[in-house]
Amino acid sequence: MGNERIDMPHEKNRENRDRYNITAWFYDILDYPWELQYRKWRPRLLEGLRGDVLEAGVGTGRNLRHYPPSVTHLTALDFSFAMLQRARRRAQGATCPVLFVQDDACTMASLASERYDWVVAFFLCCVLPEEVQHEALTQFSRVLRPGGKFRLLEMVYSKDPVLRRRQDRFAPFVEKVYGARFDRYTLAHVRNTPGLTVTATRFIKHDTYLLIEGVCEK
Ligand SMILES: C[S@@+](CC[C@H](N)C(=O)[O-])C[C@H]1O[C@@H](n2cnc3c(N)ncnc32)[C@H](O)[C@@H]1O
Repeated sequence: MGNERIDMPHEKNRENRDRYNITAWFYDILDYPWELQYRKWRPRLLEGLRGDVLEAGVGTGRNLRHYPPSVTHLTALDFSFAMLQRARRRAQGATCPVLFVQDDACTMASLASERYDWVVAFFLCCVLPEEVQHEALTQFSRVLRPGGKFRLLEMVYSKDPVLRRRQDRFAPFVEKVYGARFDRYTLAHVRNTPGLTVTATRFIKHDTYLLIEGVCEK
């Protein structure tokens, strides 16, 4: 698969795509200190998934080797060709067949409706600009089968003033390099998306790593 021209209606998404095509070159090195902690979480956070799964914003493919055997097929979607290239290198370690798809989570033009049993997205919505979050979430709803489930992991601002100050110090770096922000209203957007019902929320660490789980009811 070569670098494809994909339908990307939003300028801010195009900026983020260009950013990730550069960040991809050093993403795994830059993210390594955080990945030391994430890699302990990933197997647990993917527990219970089964069937045909879509991972949106797959990045460099850090989840690929942690999917449980009950997952029969994975579609790994990302709009950055360079990030997907790195993810593809991890395909050997994957626990199921993987189809890599270069597409915008806000359009998912290449994906059929009602195909997936699960949609997973870790640290995607904190990157998605506020004004396009509902479009990506609407796509999640479209591609999920009725009764299909979703699990999102996001980072948010802490209410603890000490942690908040630390996040404030990091925020400009995080936005510049990852296009990510701590102040996205993802949970509210999910709750406002027709077809998506939130069934559980919990913090994985402090009050900063938020897991949002739900089901598609249509
Ligand atoms: C912070 S990284 C997280 C990567 C991975 N999920 C992980 O847990 O390590 C965000 C990823 O989402 C992708 N991304 C951001 N906005 C996207 C969009 N609108 N459509 C598809 N991929 C997107 C980026 O290219 C990047 O690979």
